[in-house]
Amino acid sequence: MELRLHDITLKNQTITLRPMTENDWDILLKWNNTSQVLYYVEGDDVTSRDLDEIQAIYRSISQAALCFIIESSGKPIGECWLQKMNLERILQKYPNTDCRRIDLMIGEMEFWGRGIGTEAIRLLTAFGFDQEHADYVFGCDVADYNLASQKAFQKAGYQLSKKNRTAARDEG
Ligand SMILES: CC(C)(COP(=O)(O)OP(=O)(O)OC[C@H]1O[C@@H](n2cnc3c(N)ncnc32)[C@H](O)[C@@H]1OP(=O)(O)O)[C@@H](O)C(=O)NCCC(=O)NCCS
Repeated sequence: MELRLHDITLKNQTITLRPMTENDWDILLKWNNTSQVLYYVEGDDVTSRDLDEIQAIYRSISQAALCFIIESSGKPIGECWLQKMNLERILQKYPNTDCRRIDLMIGEMEFWGRGIGTEAIRLLTAFGFDQEHADYVFGCDVADYNLASQKAFQKAGYQLSKKNRTAARDEG
């Protein structure tokens, strides 16, 4: 199974979200082996990921998601996606609706705290509602210690609904 590709590009004055492709494994591997990045995404349990794991994760997620690389001035700095909701607890709460989730990671840490995460969430959210006609868009399983992620979603208009003790992006 390969990445499910698409041809959507989303941009504003600061960043571009371009399609993730099978040529992006080097940067995805690097970001997913940067310990502080991994800590916020996965918690303490995962300390490294090899290429096979990385490929399996993104290829699998892409089957139900539009996966993007975040670029700033042409430089790839992170990834994000808009995915069909995969968490039973949320699907049960909102039956017969189109629920999506946004996940993101800025892998180049010097780009943290510059408003880019907030911008990426805004772009994906507007795309989800305006172009994909989603009924709900969520940010899921944000760890309670991940204040930057909580704040970025909140600045983009999201409300915090419940505190999670652990981080996990692939649950469900
Ligand atoms: C989470 C992440 C996407 C946020 O993107 P970002 O570009 O760094 O965040 P922004 O600059 O848009 O906004 C972050 C806000 O949180 C604040 N913040 C950052 N670090 C903080 C901290 N440790 N404690 C409290 N607030 C913090 C910033 O000051 C900013 O708020 P402000 O504009 O009111 O000052 C990014 O930091 C990242 O990729 N982290 C690693 C992976 C990750 O956590 N992914 C999300 C998993 S749910």
